[in-house]
Amino acid sequence: PKTMIEPFRIKSVEPIRMTTRLEREKLLQAARLNVFQLRAEDVLIDWLTDSGTGAMSARQWGAIMEGDESYAGARSYFRLEQVIRDITGMEHFVPTHQGRAAEKVLFTAVCKKGDLVPSNCHFDTTRANLEYVGVEAVDCVIAEGLQPATLHPFKGNIDLARVEALLKEQGERIPFGMITVTNNTGGGQPVSMANIRAYAALLKKYGKPLIMDVCRFAENAMFIKMRESGYEHTSVRDIAREMFSYADGATMSAKKDGMVNIGGFIVLRATDWLDEVRNDLIMMEGFPTYGGMAGRDLEALAVGLEEGLDEDYLRYRLRTAEYLGEKLEAAGVGFVKPTGGHAVYIDAKTVLPDMPVAHYPAWALCNALYLEGGIRGVEVGSMMFGKRLDDGTETFHSMELVRLAFPRRMYTQSHFDYAAEVIAEVKQKAAAIRGVRITKQPRFLRHFTVQCDWA
Ligand code: F0G
Repeated sequence: PKTMIEPFRIKSVEPIRMTTRLEREKLLQAARLNVFQLRAEDVLIDWLTDSGTGAMSARQWGAIMEGDESYAGARSYFRLEQVIRDITGMEHFVPTHQGRAAEKVLFTAVCKKGDLVPSNCHFDTTRANLEYVGVEAVDCVIAEGLQPATLHPFKGNIDLARVEALLKEQGERIPFGMITVTNNTGGGQPVSMANIRAYAALLKKYGKPLIMDVCRFAENAMFIKMRESGYEHTSVRDIAREMFSYADGATMSAKKDGMVNIGGFIVLRATDWLDEVRNDLIMMEGFPTYGGMAGRDLEALAVGLEEGLDEDYLRYRLRTAEYLGEKLEAAGVGFVKPTGGHAVYIDAKTVLPDMPVAHYPAWALCNALYLEGGIRGVEVGSMMFGKRLDDGTETFHSMELVRLAFPRRMYTQSHFDYAAEVIAEVKQKAAAIRGVRITKQPRFLRHFTVQCDWA
């Protein structure tokens, strides 16, 4: 049979509250045309993020009861430490409540004003956390990584020549290099093993450590297995281990491939930064053996990290995105190709070719998907990455994307079929879609709270 089934069955369900188009019009207006401001109950298919939104397994719920809630030295900490050491090969594990806390703790400990940190693409919280401490965050993804329609097996790869130029010209400003796997901002695109290896060697030549942002390391490892020659017969677990072997440390949002609803961590190979990191951790998150997490959350993560490496699950996971991509292709809707691991990124410019960027086409498309079908995605375009400058003018992003990100083990094939139909209908009615203008915006991460009106 050619249908790839969901490799799980459902033990506990959550009803979806149905809404009408008329209701959704009122709800979106009340949310100031910002889907982040909607109540989740008013959404039919919530693809805002794959972060912390997935379904935990029966084994994870079982582990929750085993949580040791001791303040110091909890058994759950040591259990998770063992799992993380096995997967990453790194000695030192520092728990935080989620990924951005890991970033904040690490950057506060290690970076200083005026520094520069290259990556393929920094995620928005990573960029914001770096900029907050006065660090310039530079995206160096390969050119293909910014061209939605160009096919490339590893569009998340970093441009080594650009990084080398930075190291040569401004090396003294660079405390470390980063790389995000998979490259979320660039479309959930994987980074090849060859690229990670070469990047690490380049950094090493200039005496710089490599820090990986590893939220989706298991999906990246599966892509390597499927696409990079020489890895067809290597287990995803071993591939992940090799990926980690090139890094000196990593920040992790466990809310992705950790298969949990909350959690994160830093891992470090050496002790150089450890004291400073743990000092900052105590100030910002908590005592080193729980960081920002409850004992039960440490347990759920210990199980989740193992489940996230299951190859049947990963094969199904990557196929899900590919399946929706095939349907969009048939409907003539452009998207970042090939589809990424955790999400499909619609290229809004292919749906709304005539809308000026100043009317935020990806934001407009996001709103249209909600109005038409109750689907919530997230804009990855000029609202997220553009800025209002001090002189009042706006800067715009190079791409106008709508990300539909899939919570893990949560939505079934019929949800995907429905979404494909909605998107096709939106494309048909594109002429009636209206752009927006900003009426109020905060300074950082403006997309979360920005208020808009129709343009
Ligand atoms: N790095 C990457 C690549 C991410 O995708 C995220 C979160 C973070 C760091 C921060 O982790 O949310 O646990 O604090 N991404 C989510 C998303 C929010 O929707 O893509 P966090």
